[in-house]
Amino acid sequence: MNIIRAENYSEMSQLAAKKLIEQVNEKSNSVLGLATGSTPEGLYEEIIKEHKAGNVSFKDVTSFNLDEYVGLNKENDQSYYYYMHHLLFNHIDIDSGQVNLPNGDANDLQEECNSYEKAIKQADGIDIQILGIGLNGHIGFNEPGTPFSMQTHVIDLDESTRQANARFFDSIDDVPTQAITMGIDTIMQSKQIILLVSGSQKAEALDKLVNGPVTEDFPASILQKHANVTIIADQDALSELS
Ligand code: F6R
Repeated sequence: MNIIRAENYSEMSQLAAKKLIEQVNEKSNSVLGLATGSTPEGLYEEIIKEHKAGNVSFKDVTSFNLDEYVGLNKENDQSYYYYMHHLLFNHIDIDSGQVNLPNGDANDLQEECNSYEKAIKQADGIDIQILGIGLNGHIGFNEPGTPFSMQTHVIDLDESTRQANARFFDSIDDVPTQAITMGIDTIMQSKQIILLVSGSQKAEALDKLVNGPVTEDFPASILQKHANVTIIADQDALSELS
């Protein structure tokens, strides 16, 4: 694993944007894997800035998001569909037909998972996958105990994940109990992975990811087995790395 040390959140975001933009400028029809949550917000701001400055076009890019809550429709301002459109897609020239997120409001969730996985394969896989990490080591919404062999699936969210994400909702009761997520196997098939980590509250998780045993009890540990992972972390997140 390649670890890039950033001074702070803003530098982490700039370094990540530079890598993503290099990828798209080298291969205009890149397939990008995208994440939500607080961590990549700065990355998306940087991308919009660079796009507006004429330094990158996304017109031939395809994107696949990692996950979506079950039961929230596209108009719900807590859905990841809403997040991605408001924080990124509405501000760049990506073709809306090339944007993919799991539909958490589908009638047949299993069928939705199967067709999402199939669409990733049909796009010839993900060139570069952006990841954040949960305090419990989840990547995507693959919670501890999820088999490494899983592809896109429905997951019951851990209580700790619901609590961590309650800050985005009016109350904990409004946080969905399930999500659709790419599986660990789906994520591991990405050609390149960039994991962003910021803040001292993530320091222990980052140390476990890099130095701990590879175990389904700490899903991000599987990244030790991927051939092309870059971790971009700020000083606070790196503070417990041994
Ligand atoms: C988001 C996702 C999650 C987050 C993780 C960290 O699409 O898949 O794994 O990356 O929960 O979230 P933040 O960045 O809010 O700390």
